[in-house]
Amino acid sequence: MTSPVLVTGGTGRLGKLVVAQLADDGCAVRVLARHHRPVLPGVEFFPADLRTGQGVEPAVTGAAAIIHCATSTRGDAQATRNLVAAAARAGSAHLLYVSIVGIDRIATWGYPKAKLEAEQIVAGSGLPWTILRVTQFYDYCLANARKLSRLPVAPVPAGFIVQPVDPRDVAVRLAELARGRPAGRAADLAGPQVTNWTELLRGYLTASHRRRLVVPLRIPGTRAVRDGALLPPPGHTAGARTWEQFLVSQLGAAPKPRLSPA
Ligand SMILES: NC(=O)c1ccc[n+]([C@@H]2O[C@H](COP(=O)([O-])OP(=O)(O)OC[C@H]3O[C@@H](n4cnc5c(N)ncnc54)[C@H](OP(=O)(O)O)[C@@H]3O)[C@@H](O)[C@H]2O)c1
Repeated sequence: MTSPVLVTGGTGRLGKLVVAQLADDGCAVRVLARHHRPVLPGVEFFPADLRTGQGVEPAVTGAAAIIHCATSTRGDAQATRNLVAAAARAGSAHLLYVSIVGIDRIATWGYPKAKLEAEQIVAGSGLPWTILRVTQFYDYCLANARKLSRLPVAPVPAGFIVQPVDPRDVAVRLAELARGRPAGRAADLAGPQVTNWTELLRGYLTASHRRRLVVPLRIPGTRAVRDGALLPPPGHTAGARTWEQFLVSQLGAAPKPRLSPA
C-alpha cells in the first residue's frame, strides 16, 4: 500500500502495536493523538483532538485507510462523528473501527453505549468501512490482576466468563483488514481459550509466584457477563497466543521466592 494508513490513538495500548505491524509490513504510517509521544522512525505524527475536531483534517487528507483505535472514557461517539466528517470531506478512505465483542449486550451505561453509537456512526458514514469487534486484551487483564492481588486477600468478580486476546493478534488482524477490501462487520476476534476472571487471576499468581487467597465476589448488575455476553459468537476468529504464553512473555522467568528455613 503506497498511500499512508492513519492510526488514530496510535500511541495507545493497541494503537502502537498496529503502528509497528503496519511499519513492519512496509506501509507508510501516520499517527493521530492529542499528546506527542515517541513514534517509530519514519512514522508521521499528527497532533489532533478528535472530540473537538481540531487538527483532524490534515491527518486524514491523503490517507488510504484509517484505523480508528483512539478511545477515552467519555466522548467516543462525538470523536467518531468528527473523524467521519473530516474523512468524508477529505475523500473516501477505508475506515476501520475497533469495537468490543458483545457490546450490544452490555451497552446499558456510558462507555459501551458510546462505542455502540460509534459503530453505528461508522456503518452509516457513507465511507467504505470495516468494524472488528475484539475481546478484552491480555495486558488489560494483567493490569487488573496486578491491582486485585495487591492485598493478601484478592477479590475477583465471580463468574465473569471471558475469552481475552493478545493485542498483538488484534494488531495483525487489523493490518490485514486495512490492506484488504472493506468488509463491513468482520468476524469477531477472541483469544484461544474461554476462561473466567478467577482462573485468569490464579494464572497470574502462579506465573508471578505470589500466594493470595482468591475470593470470588458476586457483583450486582453483571448477570449478562456471567451469562457469557462477552464471549464471541460461533464463526469468530481465534488468536494464537494463550494467557499463559503472554504471562511468560511479560513476567519472564520470575525467580521463585526462597523458602524460609524451618
Ligand atoms: N483494552 C481492552 O481490553 C480493549 C478490548 C476490546 C476493545 N478495545 C478497544 O480497542 C481500542 C483501543 O483501546 P486501548 O486500550 O488501546 O486504548 P488506550 O491505550 O487507552 O489508548 C487510547 C488512545 O487514544 C488517544 N486518544 C484519546 N482521546 C483522544 C482524542 N480526543 N483525540 C485523539 N486521540 C485520542 C490516546 O492518546 P492521547 O491521550 O495522547 O490523545 C491514545 O493514543 C478502543 O476502541 C477500545 O474500546 C480495547
